[in-house]
Amino acid sequence: MSSKTSALVMGVGPEEGLGGSLCKRFAKEGMTVFVCGRTHKKVENLCTIINNTSGDAIPIVADVTNADDVINMMKVISKSNLPLELAVYNAGNNRPESFLDVTPEVFVSMWQVLCFGGFLTSQAILRLMIEQQEMTSKQSLFFTGASGSIRGKAGFSSFASGKGGLRMLAQSMAREFGPKGIHVAHIIIDGVIKGDKVVKGFSEYAKSLGEDGLLDLEAIADNYWHLHQQHKTAWTQEIDLRPFKETF
Ligand SMILES: NC(=O)c1ccc[n+]([C@@H]2O[C@H](COP(=O)([O-])OP(=O)(O)OC[C@H]3O[C@@H](n4cnc5c(N)ncnc54)[C@H](OP(=O)(O)O)[C@@H]3O)[C@@H](O)[C@H]2O)c1
Repeated sequence: MSSKTSALVMGVGPEEGLGGSLCKRFAKEGMTVFVCGRTHKKVENLCTIINNTSGDAIPIVADVTNADDVINMMKVISKSNLPLELAVYNAGNNRPESFLDVTPEVFVSMWQVLCFGGFLTSQAILRLMIEQQEMTSKQSLFFTGASGSIRGKAGFSSFASGKGGLRMLAQSMAREFGPKGIHVAHIIIDGVIKGDKVVKGFSEYAKSLGEDGLLDLEAIADNYWHLHQQHKTAWTQEIDLRPFKETF
């Protein structure tokens, strides 16, 4: 068993976002974190923050829907010789619009990020995890879902179909790789995250949700970490997280 292990977070943007929060949390727990996102500046910025606060972060600039980028991502991880203990597929986008306005191009590009990237990266990650089974006592592969993972609301047809597909992918992998010792779980974020995307991008809407109306970033990261800590005789395949005042 290796004393130092690594975590990979795919779909990292600003420090104040779920991807950023997960990276910081895993680094705090002593893991080397591969910070993967498609925008160089954001990935570098987060790595600098983590490395300056006695954590250990390695940047990977990759579009998780691009097969060559995924191959390069895996090369960086393999070359480190650190067993990959935990990986999170967090990439996501959203684009509310009437069903009749959704173009085929938008539908396909939403699906690529929300679902296909999960397929592409998981195949590569699971192959590596199987190879590394003697090197670490725990292996987890988690997926960030949303309300749309279980509910297709009006105006969210492309989002819900992508997130719903990702959820099914996670279930299939959980049933195939759970018995091989890899914990595959899906986390439904059923509410608005208190991150830059909404707090800065839709500030009036964020304010309208009131005190504790948005999911706190560290509180979400606590749940991912807790899932990863579960004993293999008591694994959770899916959890949902929402603010106490969210209707559902
Ligand atoms: N925000 C919410 O209120 C909310 C609610 C429910 C569920 N969720 C889910 O939570 C997850 C994180 O959401 P967040 O809003 O907190 O965002 P975030 O974690 O701060 O950032 C996610 C990042 O994923 C990156 N990304 C998108 N497509 C990618 C691709 N093809 N390859 C690599 N990286 C890619 C984007 O990078 P760039 O910025 O560089 O484009 C984006 O910043 C998503 O799966 C989302 O669906 C969010």
